[in-house]
Amino acid sequence: MARDEENRSIALVGFMGVGKTTIGRRLARRLDYQFADSDSEIERRAGCSVQKLFAEQGEAVFRRLETEALRELAERPGMVISTGGGAVLNPENAALLREHCRVIWLTASPGVIQKRVGSAETRPLLANAANPLAHIRQLLASREPHYAAAAHLRIETTDRRPEAIVDEITRWIQEDNSPYADGQAKG
Ligand code: S3P
Repeated sequence: MARDEENRSIALVGFMGVGKTTIGRRLARRLDYQFADSDSEIERRAGCSVQKLFAEQGEAVFRRLETEALRELAERPGMVISTGGGAVLNPENAALLREHCRVIWLTASPGVIQKRVGSAETRPLLANAANPLAHIRQLLASREPHYAAAAHLRIETTDRRPEAIVDEITRWIQEDNSPYADGQAKG
């Protein structure tokens, strides 16, 4: 691995409920990197929860703060960054993550996602769906091309323990020699 690739930060992308935060925290511990969650960074900047920000100022304000937070986090080396499920829908965010980070797309089945997000009260985009599973499927279908285009690696999390996923990512980092300019998600 080239020396300047050694500390390249890692961004975890993918739908709500795929385990970005759980995996991200464990991965950071394993690699001795610093963990950051872009939603927490947005909450710090806004001075309120994501839920409240959506309700009181709207999604556009949230998305603007999201780009600011991602720009600041992605440029730091040695980070594991858990991104919000909609982050890479904005091509500017996808480009800056790809430029600075190894981008890993975590996937899970719609049923598992529904179970993991539970009542969805803290997920404004799922909170009012009459049929949550159908809504998840529909959103997933429209977002998958964006995750695929942003990612260097894809990892399925359904029925897998977090530690096994962290093992796989760690192996990939050790073996990886990609030039981080372009290319398709592997896996
Ligand atoms: C969103 C996902 C959420 C949060 C916000 C919008 C989305 O993050 O950023 O509610 O557009 O999918 P998680 O993926 O961490 O739930």
